[in-house]
Amino acid sequence: MKTQVFNKMPFSLIYHKHMVPIATEITSMVLSYVKEKTGGRPLEMALDVGCGTGRSTLPLAPHFKKVLGIDISDSQINVAKQYNTANNVSYMVAPAERLPVQDNSVDLVNTGLAAQLFTIENFFNESVRVLKTNGCLAAHGFFPFPEIEYKDLSHDLNTAMSEMWDTLCQQAYTTGLSEAADHMLNQYRTIYETIDLKDKKWIKDIPVKYQMSISEIFGFARSLCTCQILLEKNEKEAKQLLAQTDKR
Ligand SMILES: C[S@@+](CC[C@H](N)C(=O)[O-])C[C@H]1O[C@@H](n2cnc3c(N)ncnc32)[C@H](O)[C@@H]1O
Repeated sequence: MKTQVFNKMPFSLIYHKHMVPIATEITSMVLSYVKEKTGGRPLEMALDVGCGTGRSTLPLAPHFKKVLGIDISDSQINVAKQYNTANNVSYMVAPAERLPVQDNSVDLVNTGLAAQLFTIENFFNESVRVLKTNGCLAAHGFFPFPEIEYKDLSHDLNTAMSEMWDTLCQQAYTTGLSEAADHMLNQYRTIYETIDLKDKKWIKDIPVKYQMSISEIFGFARSLCTCQILLEKNEKEAKQLLAQTDKR
């Protein structure tokens, strides 16, 4: 159930079209950490785990000789391949808990918006296996309740949207994704604490702004797996929720 929702071509296409792009602030933070730790050696290989349709994979391309994106879902990987714009990026279907690369071969294991779905201990052990000395593991996600700022209407707009975000979030708690939702709500604190390494860093509350139209905000809502779960469970209720919120 955890990952089935991502394994449908129509949803993968929606995900690709509407999920917000990765914030440049996040990519820069990850890269500067990697450069600091690897002491300026040439960066050969990055592995993006749970890469989806390539949102967190492609921004790594200019900084590494090779980037491999892996995901457990065929449809996500097919869309990623279809929209691949970098010739040093390749994609493969594979699970986070069994990484398809050799020991000691990767400078960065990156995972964007996906670690909450992994069996974290196995993923972590695999990351340690494949990372070179002083290589880095970076896991990042976002807090799933965006706040809207618009002139003096911010309060009203956020009130109108909050019911929808709450209903979508509740879906996680009724469909076996409660642990994943907790990880996102606590900003990966539990994941961070599970990682048994001395040299580690947890950065939270990174403010990121996107300029979006109302229809883009609804597109973003549609790209959330919780919205897809609600649509599959009760299409009428889901469509009503989106339409009523849009009207408000
Ligand atoms: C919310 S998407 C994030 C995709 C992409 N990293 C991004 O930033 O847009 C989560 C992805 O994790 C993948 N996933 C979930 N569990 C996985 C696992 N155990 N191994 C590999 N991929 C997994 C899903 O198929 C999905 O594509």
